[in-house]
Amino acid sequence: MKDGLNISVIGGTGYVGLTAAACLAYKGHMVCCVDIDPEKVQLANQGLSAFYENDLEKILKHVASERRLMATLDYKGPIKDSSIVFLCAGTPSRKDGDIDLSQVREATRSIARALKTKKDYFVLVIKSTVMPGTTESVIIPLLERISGKRAGKDFGVCVNPEFLREGSAVKDFLFPKEQGIVIGELDEKSGDWLSKLYQGFDAGIFRTTINTAEMIKYARNAYLAKDISFANEIANICQRCNIDFLEVKKGLEMDSRIGKGRFINAGIGFGGSCFPKDVRALARKAEKVGIKPRILRATLEINDYQPKTFLSLVRQTIGNLKGVKVAVLGLAFKSGTDDLRESRSIPIVLGLLAEGAVLHVFDSKAGGRAKSIFGNKVHYSGTAKEALISADACIITTESAEFADPKLYDHMRGNFIFDGRRVLNCKRLNRRFIYAAIGFPAGDKI
Ligand code: UDX
Repeated sequence: MKDGLNISVIGGTGYVGLTAAACLAYKGHMVCCVDIDPEKVQLANQGLSAFYENDLEKILKHVASERRLMATLDYKGPIKDSSIVFLCAGTPSRKDGDIDLSQVREATRSIARALKTKKDYFVLVIKSTVMPGTTESVIIPLLERISGKRAGKDFGVCVNPEFLREGSAVKDFLFPKEQGIVIGELDEKSGDWLSKLYQGFDAGIFRTTINTAEMIKYARNAYLAKDISFANEIANICQRCNIDFLEVKKGLEMDSRIGKGRFINAGIGFGGSCFPKDVRALARKAEKVGIKPRILRATLEINDYQPKTFLSLVRQTIGNLKGVKVAVLGLAFKSGTDDLRESRSIPIVLGLLAEGAVLHVFDSKAGGRAKSIFGNKVHYSGTAKEALISADACIITTESAEFADPKLYDHMRGNFIFDGRRVLNCKRLNRRFIYAAIGFPAGDKI
């Protein structure tokens, strides 16, 4: 790309940073990933990543071979040469639900120190998910105090939230039409500077204030998480009324005001590094500003309830679980990832273990990571079939297409199937099975 820019990505080997870096390099820019983790830096320079993400390593290898992406522990050099610096440090949850800003503060201090010797104008782009007000009240003051430079004069600032979904993050970054691009700008010059980068993307750009952009990120995730918990509440009611929620969902989607593809797949709830953390953080922010976050708290409460109600369904259907061999299909918080963060499979597996069940677990990508959570309390199977062979019961916790094959379950010794994601069309199962799911009429013949 003739007008490729020099770009640095701070926190550049994490889920968001490495994906953004690889995609920007793929678009023709010269990108430097700056991180504090030597192992991840080394992996990135080999075109590899420490986590699984569809298409990421393919794109990384391509840009690394064209020497358009490199990774380093050094801040000074990359920032000196960059016209855009993305800040993609993580903001995990603290115990009280607030976000932990320590990584953002640390990265900001390092950027500020590098800024001292930088001559030319550049724009710092906050891509980390931070509470409304954080950029203006924490990041900019820290930058100015340590660097001695002035925001708006020596450098620009934008907030550019990411709307990447794990499993399709590369596609979501390169083709953001569906999600749109949001730019919160300190001033027009900052916004113009960053908008130039996105000219090459087919998507609408919404330019707004910095605080608004920070809020848009949280409001979007809270909205989507609320939809899931709404669907789960309706499904829980359907269950008690002997109604199939999937039929109700069809009726909901007929209404053009609701439409298809909404986040209304009922089941064991939402996991991942975003929805739980972002809804908790927004609820905390609401309380701090004197608003009772009724819907946000209910969204979280229903999400905590789903694994519990699923376990009761298992208990009610099978009875005493002691010594029962249970195959658990899927451990990651969603299919296509190896990410176990706040996965709904964790309370379900721990609950089954507490009742003495003997678990054989399978996940095509997260199996290795699962060992750090479940240790040797469960048996790890290399395939779904291996987990199912001689199982008395099976539990499905991710909506993986692999688990939708009804023939797969013919390997089981027992007859109980508990579908946490309604991934199976139970009518295609062998009639010997007893199929149960959240929002599926108990006792219905399949
Ligand atoms: C989400 C947002 O979709 C994305 O825009 C944001 O940038 C990051 O957070 P992600 O967490 O990767 O993306 O996964 P997503 O596909 O949204 O699913 C999140 C969780 O909700 C998963 O556990 C999934 O199983 C669950 N889910 C999703 C439901 O239970 N029901 C649904 O209808 C959809």
